[in-house]
Amino acid sequence: MDSIEINKIAAAVLCAGLALGGSVLAATVLVPDRRPARPAFPIAGLEPDAAPAGPSIDARLARASAAHGAQLAGALCAACHGFDKGGAARVGPNLFGVANRAVAAVADYQYSPALKQAGGRWTPSRLDRWLTRPQGFAPGTRMGFAGISDGAARADVVAYLLSLSDTASAAPTAGVGFASLVASADPGAGAATANAECSACHSFDRNGSAMIGPALYGAFGRGIGQGADYAYSAALSGHGGNWTVAALDDWLRNPRRFAPGTRMGFAGIADDKARAAVVAYLRSLSDHP
Ligand code: HEC
Ligand code: HEC
Repeated sequence: MDSIEINKIAAAVLCAGLALGGSVLAATVLVPDRRPARPAFPIAGLEPDAAPAGPSIDARLARASAAHGAQLAGALCAACHGFDKGGAARVGPNLFGVANRAVAAVADYQYSPALKQAGGRWTPSRLDRWLTRPQGFAPGTRMGFAGISDGAARADVVAYLLSLSDTASAAPTAGVGFASLVASADPGAGAATANAECSACHSFDRNGSAMIGPALYGAFGRGIGQGADYAYSAALSGHGGNWTVAALDDWLRNPRRFAPGTRMGFAGIADDKARAAVVAYLRSLSDHP
């Protein structure tokens, strides 16, 4: 979704809000549920609390943009929700810190019985299901919002919610995982780390050449140990697989454990958040990010 489209949506929210005085209708108009009333075959997402079809939330979070999620949240949710720390409830509860918080836990907010009965915590996968179709997740909920049908856009919003936390920086929040750390990481911080810790051996420039190690522009997603113009160790060239978020996580945590015999003379980055930022930076080094 480009920014013109977001402006259009924002304008539509404003107009619909003014004209109808009801964000319930606005949300329904804005995010129509395109599913047929009677599907020809069973659709998993229609069962209460079922996982939406398509790639898992972890896979989508690995490529998600919290910044884009913030834009979407501003356009789609801000009429009803505040996102600032200590902010007041609006039509819906304040959402700062909602990720991994117990469902329906804001003390001074009157939740519907439907949401109170849902129980559990707002894990990324439950947020994903909730935002797919709130009425499917908690039938009878008062959240007047049809849902976000696009899985990638939904993951962007979840990544944004994950970033709204005092402890987003603290080591892996239980159940959140490295993919979501990467989704909410700052590639700029990763660039600073890479400059300090990797640039003695690696170039990160577009068209950069190999130094002690291979050039890393475009390495994300590429086959492991398969860059052109570099003589890799057999440990790396014979490893197999691609440089996914998960593979880079293991590699940069401990290169010699990932590929015993590798020639990369680097101990690894123990801090999860710092490693996630470097992975987010590597992912940004592409002509097709
Ligand atoms: C029309 C108003 C409205 C819109 C738009 C809306 N919400 Fe809500 N939201 C609510 C209400 C009301 C509740 C409480 C529901 C209940 O008690 O059943 C709620 C609850 C929630 C909760 C559960 C919070 C908790 O403390 O358990 C989350 C998470 C949430 N909304 C996220 C979002 C996101 C993200 C968006 C935008 C993509 C959004 N909402 C759009 C009104 C809205
Ligand atoms: C002391 C030099 C050195 C440092 C410091 C270093 N690397 Fe490397 N790196 C290498 C070498 C050498 C290889 C090739 C290893 C092999 O063939 O076994 C390599 C390989 C890689 C690869 C695999 C690329 C491909 O095409 O498959 C990645 C990704 C990588 N390094 C990332 C990093 C990052 C990120 C940092 C900093 C956090 C870093 N390296 C720090 C020397 C270094």
